[in-house]
Amino acid sequence: MEYFERHQGGERAILVSTRVQILEDLDAEEFRLLAESAGAEIIEHMTTSRNRPDPKLFIGSGKAEEIAEFIQQEEIDLAIFDHSLSPAQERNLERIFKCRVIDRTGLILDIFALRARTHEGKLQVELAQLEHLSTRLVRGWTHLERQKGGIGLRGPGESQLETDRRLLRIRMTQLKDKLEKVRQTRLQGRAARQKAEIPTVSLVGYTNAGKSTLFNRLAESDVYAADQLFATLDPTLRRVQWEGLGTVVLADTVGFVKDLPHSLVDSFRATLEETLEASLLLHVIDASSPDMMEQIDAVENVLGEIGADVTILRVYNKIDQSKDEAKIIYSKPHHPQRVYVSAHTGEGVDLLMQAVQESLLGQLQTFELCLEAKHGKLRSQLHHLDVIQSESYDEQGHLLLSVRMSGERLVQLIGQNHYDLTQILGEQAVQFKRPLEPFEQES
Ligand code: GTP
Repeated sequence: MEYFERHQGGERAILVSTRVQILEDLDAEEFRLLAESAGAEIIEHMTTSRNRPDPKLFIGSGKAEEIAEFIQQEEIDLAIFDHSLSPAQERNLERIFKCRVIDRTGLILDIFALRARTHEGKLQVELAQLEHLSTRLVRGWTHLERQKGGIGLRGPGESQLETDRRLLRIRMTQLKDKLEKVRQTRLQGRAARQKAEIPTVSLVGYTNAGKSTLFNRLAESDVYAADQLFATLDPTLRRVQWEGLGTVVLADTVGFVKDLPHSLVDSFRATLEETLEASLLLHVIDASSPDMMEQIDAVENVLGEIGADVTILRVYNKIDQSKDEAKIIYSKPHHPQRVYVSAHTGEGVDLLMQAVQESLLGQLQTFELCLEAKHGKLRSQLHHLDVIQSESYDEQGHLLLSVRMSGERLVQLIGQNHYDLTQILGEQAVQFKRPLEPFEQES
């Protein structure tokens, strides 16, 4: 649990938000929450505006002097900028402010360093930190500060900072190798799941949308959920048994945030890869947030950028705080598009499970199957899928099964085993006349 503890008596910080274009929409609340998640004690939040960033200081020199004065008076330890700064801008500002300066990427990396739990997550944070810091090595005075630790200086990367760039590069290569090995192991696990045809349902969403809370509801486990950004960093996986679906793997993923630096998108490939391979994405949305539309776009744009080509079911969460009621909205029959729930009160969670089932299986139907001894493999597959409602034997010793599942899936299984559809399904086979052809040709 050590990763979740906020730092006692956080560093005294000044936040600086700069509106670069007149219409730029600064999300002051999110920036504050990010800084607080890193444990900063926010003394002041200044907003400045400029037509374009100053190449040396990002902000204007007059403004910089003003902030420097405030920093001296109030004994501020740290200035955090809500934009990406170049290494030179960071250094120049540090010279004027006489305190540490970090930018948005540094801040997000710091939070990631605090939150990483698994071996893979930690390796990735270290790598991302080293990549970010390797361009910012020449900072004589940070030496002492670094020994104390502090925002932007924490995490496994810090001991490397005093080494030179050559050592840094060696360390980065080692980390990449290690990560590749961990990744391969994870991929093997996933391949085994795919072979066993276990569907994966991944929860994605803007940070603080309620993914972990919903995950807990669905998995009845207790993954950490907190009103802190990025409480979940690593993909968290759970196997669950769902009626009509059998075993399903649920994956909780890292929260998205607006303008997530691309280096981070790459670094957190582990989480995003789970997303790409999922059978279904649950896009968890905070329906009570005034920025809901913007957050939906931010998430779905990133999913588009990384090439996720998976069915998305939008889950509007926190309806206990919005004016919505629990319901499913369909784009066409049996194709749920949106579900309204409250992960907190549990309202609508049953509808969500129904919608997941419909999305994964298409329409559910009841079938009566007649199996002979040679159909043993199908029987065990159906058991595995947990779709059998009753089992009995007729006078000839045939096994009679009543199953509830998608017709498409059933025909697919029968086809894969090269069994005779009419023999197993009798008259019910008629409705599958056309989809049957390819399987007949194969056998
Ligand atoms: P990240 O880890 O930052 O990506 O967040 P997350 O999406 O996993 O959110 P999390 O589950 O940690 O929830 C964030 C906050 O929202 C917590 O304080 C939850 O208690 C709260 N929350 C989650 N679901 C609901 C809900 O249905 N209603 C209300 N009122 N609050 C909720």
